[in-house]
Amino acid sequence: MGGKKRIGILTGGGDCPGLNAAIRAIAKTAFQIGYEVIGIRNGWKGLLDDEYEVLDGIKTSGIIDRGGTILGTSRISPLQIENGPQRVFDGFKKLGLEALVVLGGEGTLCVASRLFKMGLPLVGIPKTIDNDVQGTAYTIGFQTAVQIATEALDRLRSTAESHHRVMVLEVMGRHTGWIATYAGMANGADAILIPEIPLDAEKIENLCQMLIKRKERGINFSIVVVAEGTKLEGKAVTRKGKEILGGVGEVLGDIIEKRTGLETRVSTLGYIQRGGTPVAYDRSLATAFGVKATDLIKEKKYGEMTALKGNKIISVPLADVEGKVKTVNLNIYEVAGRFFG
Ligand code: F6P
Repeated sequence: MGGKKRIGILTGGGDCPGLNAAIRAIAKTAFQIGYEVIGIRNGWKGLLDDEYEVLDGIKTSGIIDRGGTILGTSRISPLQIENGPQRVFDGFKKLGLEALVVLGGEGTLCVASRLFKMGLPLVGIPKTIDNDVQGTAYTIGFQTAVQIATEALDRLRSTAESHHRVMVLEVMGRHTGWIATYAGMANGADAILIPEIPLDAEKIENLCQMLIKRKERGINFSIVVVAEGTKLEGKAVTRKGKEILGGVGEVLGDIIEKRTGLETRVSTLGYIQRGGTPVAYDRSLATAFGVKATDLIKEKKYGEMTALKGNKIISVPLADVEGKVKTVNLNIYEVAGRFFG
């Protein structure tokens, strides 16, 4: 593979729309300054198990609008594997890499930060539909998920109206309610329930009373959005027999129907909100983050994560992001709340 300088790219954690736009931007700008680019396959697993491919102009062309990640991904963390960090360092050395670009959500970037502290030269790019990475206004994938969730809510509204029903939509958001808040606001939802504001008995009762009052006012349908991580009376709802979150919409729908007597239906958006074509915003953000990551590598400014602050692309230390979750901006939530009920 010649004597050229070489960088690696990996995508870890849940996939999201816009990853390929970032991979394209990193690779093409790296080619321009004479680097070879190695695509590490399936997140950290690729460095642990020697799974990789050499990226070239052909492989990185025509992918700006493609969902998912051409590199594959996994949730495998080297920090939870015996000799994991050493195996990552060995894999990195074997490939002759100068540095690594890690595209990840809060979990993957936390691993990146820890490995950087152990001496691995890398930079991070924040991506997750959940938008819960600290230090950046937006992550890659968030705007697409909001668009998909908004379209789903718009469709639910018309059928809710026709059948005079309460419609509950469960969206993703493990720790935070960014998708629920932004999609709910764009749809004009009557209630938005997020993990940042757990639903205690009183809040559930208030929600039911609000739905009854709407009916009494002659409005015969309602839209409720709930993020999957929203706790009901202190408990997170998980899928049967699994540790995976999911099902809060169903549980809430049952409670609403029983307490209000209003016919209620529930939809769960699930993985649809994470798949398919990225919206223009995510493609642009991914492109800007990709270019910034290559610049950081060129300057050997390792241990940094690309970030959006206002309308500027900056970088922040990964150490400031590690182990933190960016919760919903409650000012924005209050704006959405002006239209509840
Ligand atoms: O990508 C983030 C996220 O979508 C969370 O909101 C969700 O809980 C999780 O991923 C589910 O991902 P998976 O089932 O792929 O591990």
